[in-house]
Amino acid sequence: DAPQELFYRFQLIPVHGVPIMKPIADNWERIEAFQARPDDLLVATYPKAGTTWMQEIVDSIINDGDLKKVKCAPMHVRFPFLEICNPPPVPCGVDILEGTTSPRKIKTHLPYELIPRSFWEHDCKVIYVARNAKDSAVSYYHFDLMEKTQPHPGTWEEYVGKFLKGNVPWGGWFDHVIGWWKARAKHQILYMFYEDMKEDPKREIHKVMRFLGKDLTEDLLEKICQHTSFKAMKENPMANYSTTPASVLDQSISKFMRKGEVSDWKNHFTVQQNEMLDAEYQKRMEGTDLKFRFSI
Ligand code: A3P
Repeated sequence: DAPQELFYRFQLIPVHGVPIMKPIADNWERIEAFQARPDDLLVATYPKAGTTWMQEIVDSIINDGDLKKVKCAPMHVRFPFLEICNPPPVPCGVDILEGTTSPRKIKTHLPYELIPRSFWEHDCKVIYVARNAKDSAVSYYHFDLMEKTQPHPGTWEEYVGKFLKGNVPWGGWFDHVIGWWKARAKHQILYMFYEDMKEDPKREIHKVMRFLGKDLTEDLLEKICQHTSFKAMKENPMANYSTTPASVLDQSISKFMRKGEVSDWKNHFTVQQNEMLDAEYQKRMEGTDLKFRFSI
């Protein structure tokens, strides 16, 4: 294990204009040159959109509901994080992936514009998960309090300002969700919504199954629904990041599986903050047919 201080709250450095944590920015050439394989599957999200939930769903489907296989290792081992980089000796995502046998399952938070070209040259499948801006901000704020490599979020009031400016790791929410939405025209992208998954998990898991070219029985789908419920994942050490040291993820501050609800933003946004976000939302979402639900 590397000494704790190596992990403490990295600076953000612009990579093609997107604020990215320093160790990732320092390794950018290698990440950009990453060699995808045609059967790679990418799960892409803006942070806190339900990445881990989708990863667990995908892994359960790929393993035909065989939960022994799905519970064989923590999420970051089963489903490596493409761009993540920490100071040596911790291996970077690209190093881990180069040594991973196919078919590979890969997580990324990169905006569409920063995805290594090789994924598109091989026409890889991508599942994108989007979550409404207000719940994303609340979830990201709590995460940045407990994730010790990310910049400290400051107060909630300060954080709302940073979030709206896109001055957070992986940049702005608006650019991210819109960039990937437009990319659907050119690539094999299944664009999913957290709110839909909460509303009807089985319907949404079925969509993912079809996209992956699988045909599981009703019983197996039901089993996967149970296994990927918030309650089950919160208790599952292979999904809840409890194996990550507290020097990186301090779950005494806030749990990784924090609340798992739609509309928790109502418990955090003041009337003024809400108006500010609504105004920005109207401005930035004009001219796109991408629509979000802030409650279900
Ligand atoms: P909250 O902070 O709102 O609780 P990511 O995996 O992209 O980092 O997203 C984490 C968010 O997804 C957290 O949101 C977490 O609780 C929520 N989440 C994780 N698993 C979930 C599940 N099975 N059902 C609903 N929400 C889930």
